[in-house]
Order: sequence, then structure tokens, then C-alpha cells
Amino acid sequence: MTTKNHQKVILVGDGAVGSAFAYSMVNQGLAEEFGIIDVVKERTEGDALDLEDAQVFTAPKNIYSADYADCKDADVVVITAGAAQKPGETRLDLVNKNLKIFSTIIKPIVDSGFDGIFVIAANPVDILTYATWKFSGFPKEKVIGSGTSLDTSRLRVALAKKIGVDPRNVDAYIMGEHGDSEFAAYDEATVGGKPLKTVAKEHGLSDDDLAQIEDQTRNKAYEIINRKGATYYGIATCLMRITKAILRDENAVLPVGAALDGQYGLDDIFIGTPAVINANGLASVIEVPLSAKEKDAMAKSAETLKKVTKDGLA
Ligand code: NAD
Ligand code: LAC
Repeated sequence: MTTKNHQKVILVGDGAVGSAFAYSMVNQGLAEEFGIIDVVKERTEGDALDLEDAQVFTAPKNIYSADYADCKDADVVVITAGAAQKPGETRLDLVNKNLKIFSTIIKPIVDSGFDGIFVIAANPVDILTYATWKFSGFPKEKVIGSGTSLDTSRLRVALAKKIGVDPRNVDAYIMGEHGDSEFAAYDEATVGGKPLKTVAKEHGLSDDDLAQIEDQTRNKAYEIINRKGATYYGIATCLMRITKAILRDENAVLPVGAALDGQYGLDDIFIGTPAVINANGLASVIEVPLSAKEKDAMAKSAETLKKVTKDGLA
């Protein structure tokens, strides 16, 4: 598939995450057309007016307050609509509220004739990605969750600080649920082709230190929410990166919430794993050859998600 000359992205949910994503897209000069939908129409109008002031310094864009009918010929619809965690709440606590919101959002998008790729970020993201697939009736390759993209960024940044390399050169993934049951796949992680565990030891990091970094990564959202009420710049940049891989037909290997079809012994689930992303959405899942302990962690994380999916979507 070749990339089109005119690309169109629609954002649904113009809150903290959505507006930061919009700003990131404008800054990167991605997509000729960018429409914004929210229940608060005035906010989308204000954001469109505000964002178009950046056009002098970035690629020209048609940025506007959109309606669901505008999804018809969009390449990508990114959904960040929904309640966010309050201090003390987990992502899974949001499930009923946000499933209700999604049941009103997905139908009008599909009814518009939309035939592009869904990218989902609202929490609990793995469940809502699954719900989007179910509610839309789309092939599973055309529904992608942000999954453990943000957690993987957090892990790479933390490791990079300790071992003194650019985070982009740390090839390590957080896998499983985007949430409390996620885990760091350290056994297969590398830096410049060298096992991360070896590099870590050379920098004085013990297995306990690595476990602590994994734990801090898992809890980083809580740390941010306790201080400023929400997280948005990190996820907005991850969403921009996933969207860019689709628009540019990159075949990029990214950590996302992908539909599994037997990989890791799992199916009927969307969960965090590295995958190949291109203009068709999910090109393939990269099945990491996990160690026995990691396989167990993946199975436990999947079990958590399956239980919530079963209860929430029954
Ligand atoms: P927010 O409250 O700032 O924004 C939510 C927006 O959704 C609001 O503008 C609201 O008006 C809109 N909305 C609500 N119902 C709607 C509907 N039916 N149709 C259209 N728009 C609707 O919240 P936020 O901080 O931007 O977070 C949004 C979601 O993203 C939350 O679920 C949060 O947990 C999640 N999130 C995910 C990640 C991740 O890594 N996947 C990271 C951060 C936040
Ligand atoms: C995060 C959100 C809250 O920052 O899911 O991880």
C-alpha cells in the first residue's frame, strides 16, 4: 500500500491527552487534515482555532471541529475520550464508565462509512481496544491499542539514565496489560545487540535494581497523577508515533495493544506486545521468545484482562 497525498486523522476526545496528541501531530507536520470531536463542541472549536496558529511554522493543515460524519474518509481515528483516573483509582476502575462512552462513540464512526484504522488510548486501554473491535465489527488488524507503548517508553528512559545511553537505543519492552499486571521482558532486552542484563551489571545494577526500575515504571502514572492530576505528554507522543507509522506505511516495530491469534498461547485478547505497524494497521505480532517466568507473567496479565472483559462486556 502506498501513502496518499492527502491524509486525514480524526481525534475523538479533546481533553488533556487528546489536545496534547493534536499538538504533537501539528508539531510533526503529520496529516493534511485533522478533525477534532468531543461532547464539548466549543472546546474543539477553540482548539482548532488555537492549533491553526501553529501552521505558519509547520506543514499546512486543515484543522477543524469535526462531526462523526467527517470520519467517513479518515485514514485514522484516534480515541482518547473517556474518564481518566483520579488519585487512588486504578485504570481498571474506569471500565464501566468508559465502556458506556465507547458504546456511543464507535457506532456513529462506523455509520459514517469509516474504513481506516482505529487507535485507542482511553483506559483501561486493552479492554476498550477489545470493545472497539467488538462494537465496530472491524477486522482485528484495523484496531490498535496504545497498549504498553507508554510503559515501554518509561522503562527505556529509566534504563537509559542508569546506563548512560540514548533511550532510543534501549531495546526493552514492557508487555502485558497497560496496568498493574504488566511486566518488563528483561530476559530478551538488548542494548546495541548486547544483553541488557549484561550491560546493566557492567553499570553496577543488580537484579534487584532492575526489579525496582520495573516497579517504578509500573507505578509512574500514579506518581504523575498524584502530582498534576493526569498524564498526557508521554501518551500523546506515543499516539503520534503509532499514527505516523500508519500514515507513512512504515512497518515500524512498536509496542502496542495488539490482537493475539495464538501468540503466547493466547487469543481473543488485545494486549501489550511488540508488533509491526503499517498503513493496514497491525501487519504482524512479533512473538518475543519469553522465558518461563515471563510467560507466566504474560499469562497472569492476560487472565486479569480476560476476567474484566468477560464481566464488562457480558
Ligand atoms: P480528560 O477528562 O481530560 O478528557 C476526556 C475527554 O473526553 C473530555 O474532553 C470529554 O469531554 C471527552 N468525552 C467524554 N465523553 C465523550 C463522548 N461520549 N464523546 C466524545 N468525547 C467525550 O481525560 P484525559 O486525561 O485526556 O484522559 C483520557 C483517557 O485517556 C482516560 O481514559 C485516561 O485514563 C486515558 N489515558 C490513557 C493513557 C494510556 O497510556 N493509554 C495515558 C493517559 C491517559
Ligand atoms: C498512564 C495512564 C494513566 O499514564 O494510563 O499510564
